[in-house]
Amino acid sequence: PGYRVVQPELARTLRAMATSGAAAFYRGSIAKKMVDAVQAAGGLWELADLEGYRVVERTPIKFRYRGAIVTTAPLPSSGGAVLAQCLHILEARELASLGEAERVHLTVEAMRRGYHDRARYMGDPAFVAVPVDRLLSKDYALVRGASISAERATPSSELDALSPHATETTQTTHFSVIDAEGNRVAATLSVNGPFGAGFVAGDTGVLLNNHINDFVLADNAPNVYRLTGGVANRIEPGKRPLSSMSPSFVEDERGVLVLGTPGGSRIISMVLQAIVGYVDRPALDLEQIAGAPRFHHQYLPDRIEIELDGFSDEWIAAQKSRGHVVEIGRRKWGNMQLVYFDKATGRVSVVNDPRARAGVLF
Ligand code: DON
Repeated sequence: PGYRVVQPELARTLRAMATSGAAAFYRGSIAKKMVDAVQAAGGLWELADLEGYRVVERTPIKFRYRGAIVTTAPLPSSGGAVLAQCLHILEARELASLGEAERVHLTVEAMRRGYHDRARYMGDPAFVAVPVDRLLSKDYALVRGASISAERATPSSELDALSPHATETTQTTHFSVIDAEGNRVAATLSVNGPFGAGFVAGDTGVLLNNHINDFVLADNAPNVYRLTGGVANRIEPGKRPLSSMSPSFVEDERGVLVLGTPGGSRIISMVLQAIVGYVDRPALDLEQIAGAPRFHHQYLPDRIEIELDGFSDEWIAAQKSRGHVVEIGRRKWGNMQLVYFDKATGRVSVVNDPRARAGVLF
């Protein structure tokens, strides 16, 4: 509060784009300045990289979670496919009738399996054949879910053996919007790390991202979010890195929920817990959905990470007794934006993340 950010250079660049369209950015003097600046700093950009860049419109992933229709992000974000697998696994259980410890254990095991497939299959579909149809199918989720023990955590190191490959192997911002006519937008935008590459190209005002870290940089080398992966998401010229961004719609007979959040690899598990909160615990209000303490499992590292100060000793003990490793995070995470249209009343309500209101950035 009280800090004024003025970006006249960026304003000039944006104005040029508003006047002349995308070409003003990807070609011409702005493109040249960015390429010159990157090259002068030792980077590898060529004018042809910018000229050759195309925005690709993709069909969202759509599936049902109990009574709700979820519309969410397709590859090259892993968000939709991981959410679908996790939610399909959970759908086969009576979550609403479980105690909290059982529900958390089950949700973590669903996360473990969803993120496991993220690591072993997913990458830019222009480069790798990702078995999306299979990953989205309920039959596949049933097979994956069958290996979950109600009593014990499955060590992530055992997942490959439990579920052979489905095919033979070969700072972020989220907006949720509903307008007066019911049009909706869920949009997550990312420069990846705080201040991206930490590099503004010349006097264009354009801050470059460091999404390169969303690729697998080397076998078994975790990225900044400690995500691992394999050949599907390795760096190749022209390839887009595998994201976790998960802008989503959830629709059922009660209403339409538009949601999403920043948060690196934890984006998917946050959106997962919000969808489960909305669908399985209808008594929760939006504030409770956004405010609920967050837990996270991403296959590797093989542990449940929990938000600082969010969970009781009993909660932790209940998961440890099942064989989970529980690691208390250094902080809270996420900045969830929820907009909800209530079909019965016609009212729209909005909740943003209490963590952000309290000054936690993401
Ligand atoms: O696309 C991704 O998965 C990451 N670049 C998102 C990074 C992110 O959310 C960082 N901010 N909190």
